[in-house]
Amino acid sequence: MVVNLDILRAQLAKLPINEFNGPKFYVHMFSSQPDWRNYFKGSEAIKPEEVPTCPRFLRQGQRVLLSMELMIELADKPQLFDAYVRDLLDKHKQIKGIDYDLYSAFFDVWYGYLSKIIGMSDKEKKEWEAFRVELFLPAVKKYIAGW
Ligand code: HEM
Repeated sequence: MVVNLDILRAQLAKLPINEFNGPKFYVHMFSSQPDWRNYFKGSEAIKPEEVPTCPRFLRQGQRVLLSMELMIELADKPQLFDAYVRDLLDKHKQIKGIDYDLYSAFFDVWYGYLSKIIGMSDKEKKEWEAFRVELFLPAVKKYIAGW
């Protein structure tokens, strides 16, 4: 295993999935990448400060946290990891324009969010980068190639 999952799991243990932390992900995303609101049809003009009281992002924020946690939980179980990532990518398939580069860029938003909410040490960042480059992006590449 190229990624030290214990480090990432210990970090994520400080991030409960709840109605506060979930929407904060989208507050951060829409503050740092306002154009990405265009992928969320119907919420193209939402202001970051409106996100915490928006029922859509109350749920969606928690889905993203759960999904990131599940990937780290499953990362040392290749069969489950592959099946889970494929299902996640299937769920994004109908959203036009989400490509390899955007999946990669998503991690920069994720790092900014983690830094803000629970902090991110150099050691943790290094393991996230290993996860992005060694596990997640290769799965995206495989998916795009017709997996
Ligand atoms: C590792 C990267 C990502 C994770 C873990 C993630 C996670 C999720 C999850 C769990 C859902 C709910 C799917 C469902 O239950 O049907 C979802 C939906 C969605 N995701 Fe992602 N996502 C990722 C990347 C992206 C990117 C890069 C974008 C575009 C900037 C994006 C835009 C969306 C949109 C528009 C939806 C539909 C939600 C709605 O319409 O309310 N996602 N994502």
